Amino acid sequence: MNVLLIGSGGREHAMAWKIAQSSLLDELYVTPGNPGTVRHGRNVDLDLKDEKALRKFLLDKRIRIVVVGPEAPLVDGLHDRIAADPKLKEVTVIGPTSSGARLEGSKDFAKEFMFRHNIPTAAHRTFVKGQLQEAVDHLERMTAPYVIKADGLAAGKGVVITPDKKEAAKTLRDMLQNGKYGEAGERVVMEQHLQGVEVSAFLITDGDSFKMLPAAKDYKRISRGDTGPNTGGMGAVSPVPFAEKDFMQKVHDRVAAPTIRGLKKEGIPYRGFVFMGLMNVSGEPYVIEYNVRLGDPETQAILPRMRSDLLDLFEGIATGTLSERHVDVDDRTAVTIVLASDGYPGKYEKGHPIASLDLVRDAYVFQAGTVRSGEQLLTNGGRVMSVTGMGKDLESAIASAYRAAAIVAYEGKYMRDDIGHDLVKKPTVRAGAVSR
Ligand code: AMP
Ligand code: GLY
Repeated sequence: MNVLLIGSGGREHAMAWKIAQSSLLDELYVTPGNPGTVRHGRNVDLDLKDEKALRKFLLDKRIRIVVVGPEAPLVDGLHDRIAADPKLKEVTVIGPTSSGARLEGSKDFAKEFMFRHNIPTAAHRTFVKGQLQEAVDHLERMTAPYVIKADGLAAGKGVVITPDKKEAAKTLRDMLQNGKYGEAGERVVMEQHLQGVEVSAFLITDGDSFKMLPAAKDYKRISRGDTGPNTGGMGAVSPVPFAEKDFMQKVHDRVAAPTIRGLKKEGIPYRGFVFMGLMNVSGEPYVIEYNVRLGDPETQAILPRMRSDLLDLFEGIATGTLSERHVDVDDRTAVTIVLASDGYPGKYEKGHPIASLDLVRDAYVFQAGTVRSGEQLLTNGGRVMSVTGMGKDLESAIASAYRAAAIVAYEGKYMRDDIGHDLVKKPTVRAGAVSR
């Protein structure tokens, strides 16, 4: 079958790599793609908002499956437009319609949804434009640190967590009064702060049944020891040692199952991935956020561990037979390190030549912010690429990933040097114990 994959990051390179391995695949097209996805399919330029051009492309190329990598086209109704077109009856979109995409597109919707379906999450209150005073008054009833979120999509910049009540009040003014967060901030969610460790869990669903995918830990901050500004993600590890079987069973029973049941009950058709951003609070899962897509860079750690054919799962979604398919996972560990441009997530330079990529062995390279200029590959973004190393245990996967990451060379290369280190089991030395 012919597939169109939408996106251009490391996540989409990993998805293209995985889809290309399927015996069910005839042609893979990626839009816009990147210099890495070219190895697995054909990059095409398509304006997703140009309905006529999109319809013509899908029909001409006989596309059966459209896989949407990022959330924006889903929130924007791409699935709805394809589903409403009688000429495109044969096309299945992997990714929800705009009503399902509200799980990511509106934090208030997501919180109310969880509340309706008894899914564990931090207690919250929502305030809209015109309720600034009520929102500021509410700070008095909260305890620090204060968690304040713009309701809409804000490219990862819509969450402010601060121990300082004055700063919290200023954030509320910026969102509800000064328009600093645009439309996304005209509605604000204030919530209880959760203390714990974060883990990203994923499922794939046809709207009826679902399958859990491997979980991963993402490293969101720019600097070692989880310090400095938030980024899109600087590394990932899968599986996650503190999210073993018992915890994942709770995630399945208390979060994943009620989420899919809840969507169905509310008449929200949902086909695609659900990303559950969780906090492990003393062994209990709480949902921090939903995303309606896979994570980046989590995907680059998860897909190399999946033995099952991704396209077979997509076909299961297309035919409503996902329950008959299997997700088979390699129990080795995958460690992904993001290679960024110095300065990211702030200002950074572009256009530096990238060398030695072809010398990387025994690890996967997934490109993101790269561009080809003739024969030369150049840096072209904040997150330039990621490398994934595999190992029988965490230590060997870390070593493999860093060996590969050291080979790639370009001016301004920046990576965290501690991905996975917090998860390595420290030897427990008991007083009086004899060490061997
Ligand atoms: P979000 O965009 O909702 O994922 O929030 C961004 C980050 O803020 C999360 O990855 C968490 O690290 C943190 N965060 C969000 N909500 C909470 C909360 N209620 N308690 C503690 N940390 C939170
Ligand atoms: N790595 C976090 C995300 O994809 O949202």
